[in-house]
Amino acid sequence: PEHRPLFGKHVLVTAGPTHEPIDPVRYIANRSSGKQGFAIAAAAAAAGARVTLVAGPVHLQTPRGVDRINVESAREMADEVRNALPADIAVMVAAVADWRTKDFADQKMKKRGSAPPALLLEENPDILTNLSAGKKRPTLVIGFAAETQDVIENARSKRKRKGADWIVANDVSGDVMGGDLNDVHIVTSRGVEDLPEMPKDQVAYALVERMAEALEKVHED
Ligand code: C5P
Repeated sequence: PEHRPLFGKHVLVTAGPTHEPIDPVRYIANRSSGKQGFAIAAAAAAAGARVTLVAGPVHLQTPRGVDRINVESAREMADEVRNALPADIAVMVAAVADWRTKDFADQKMKKRGSAPPALLLEENPDILTNLSAGKKRPTLVIGFAAETQDVIENARSKRKRKGADWIVANDVSGDVMGGDLNDVHIVTSRGVEDLPEMPKDQVAYALVERMAEALEKVHED
């Protein structure tokens, strides 16, 4: 039916930041409110999809009809994404920390007048890249790219590098972070669609509409 265009589909969404622990009281993270990812999960559920939302630590209510799995670190997020497959559509909105600390201190690190500790970092798995290259690749894989400059160029190369079908690029040089408005550009193999700046839940509805159309096209081919 027209108003439930994702009925019978499984949509997997990641959202929020990840926290990479340094010691029991400290962590490394990217800035992310989780609002855009949660809005996409809500819109997909409203469109009739079964939705799995793998969420990093955020203060947001679980949208109606969404199965939410909470995680802290990138590695936990990667595991839960893998566990949630198969899916028809994956939308990776999370701001995953690129690095984690190599050694986790079991006890709180103390200042005690000595030199500041050096943090040794190692790279986290790229969840989007692994999903795109994996055996259980969803039909439609969508990544996000928060950029402060050369937004479209960066998104184009990111799309290829990560093997995603679409990259939704947003310019975060203004106050998108934590705010309710977003200004996005959908970069696909066919070109770029610029959406006007609008509330994050409307961005989510616009994306879900296009996802349903894209899945239909795949099934026609
Ligand atoms: O490389 P960058 O972090 O800008 O890429 C952003 C996109 O890649 C987002 O869709 C994000 O969710 C995803 N990503 C990921 N795992 C990482 C890093 C980024 O899934 N470790």
